[in-house]
Amino acid sequence: MIIKQSLLTLTTVAVLALGSVSAVAEPIILKFSHVVAENTPKGQMAIKFKALVDEKLKGKVDVKLYPNGQLFSDKKVLEALLLGDVHLASPSLSKFKKYTKKLQIFDLPFLFQDMGAVERFQQSEAGQGLLKTVSKKGLLGLGYMHNGMKQISASKPLHTPADAKGLKFRIMSSDVLAAQFEAVGATPLKKPYSEVFTLLQTKAIDGQENTWSNIYSKKFYEVQEYITSSDHGLLDYMVVTSAKFWKGLPDDVRPILKRLLDEAIAHGNKVAAEKSKSDKQAIIDSKRSKVIELSDKERQQWVDMMKPVWKQFEAIVGKELLDAAIASNKK
Ligand code: LMR
Repeated sequence: MIIKQSLLTLTTVAVLALGSVSAVAEPIILKFSHVVAENTPKGQMAIKFKALVDEKLKGKVDVKLYPNGQLFSDKKVLEALLLGDVHLASPSLSKFKKYTKKLQIFDLPFLFQDMGAVERFQQSEAGQGLLKTVSKKGLLGLGYMHNGMKQISASKPLHTPADAKGLKFRIMSSDVLAAQFEAVGATPLKKPYSEVFTLLQTKAIDGQENTWSNIYSKKFYEVQEYITSSDHGLLDYMVVTSAKFWKGLPDDVRPILKRLLDEAIAHGNKVAAEKSKSDKQAIIDSKRSKVIELSDKERQQWVDMMKPVWKQFEAIVGKELLDAAIASNKK
């Protein structure tokens, strides 16, 4: 009887123990979707983020990466975030028009003198406030991330804006960028990133604007004979999630994830600074595309033609914000 009872107790203990094992929570899946290659600043940031989470939140959070637009285009990814189909994305600041018009400030040509000015503006009160402008409709901006300055590639040499007249350029989905190319008499076409290479290769378009790392990693330089080293505009990102997903994370996980993300972004920013030099050099060394350096006089012509675009968008982004961005050029 005693034996029988203790056997029963043992069985109960075993069942309870098994029960508690099966009750161990599954890791939270965090899908991170982006459109660029892995050997880019954003690609490297994502890889770093996953590695950090694997190390520090092992068994609690499992980050799954989807680079190269294999899951969603940037147009679709923000909707996918809100539907809960992905949990982290990092579209360029040019692609948030549906959520806020204020971020268009980052597209204004020749606004920031260098990445130091960009960093100062983004970290300022005005810049941090801009992260909150996407919160309409449930997005949550977690931070900025750099890629760098854009260059203009084309099937013919572009020294002055007159050389671009009549040409077709692919742009991201931004009205400022459309106005910028219209200002030099060119035709802008809003197309997804995944289509750029084929559009260039088949000569459906004459050129595009992008950073050295994007031109290199997606091989645009192999199908464009010339790249003008113009540094005329910025390509940066906002790392975003859905407010609902973020708030739903356990309280002991959320702050750690944010800290690891900040660390991954800092790493990505370092990669961005390096690649803006090394990928440019790799393109020059490849001899597939001729890199054109502008004289001061030529550059000034681009500034004179493109800068009037600021006036067109001043009322939309706000004079105060514009002044704050201009002020960030001073150290
Ligand atoms: C583009 O569409 O050209 C860029 O937004 C791609 C990227 O994410 O860098």
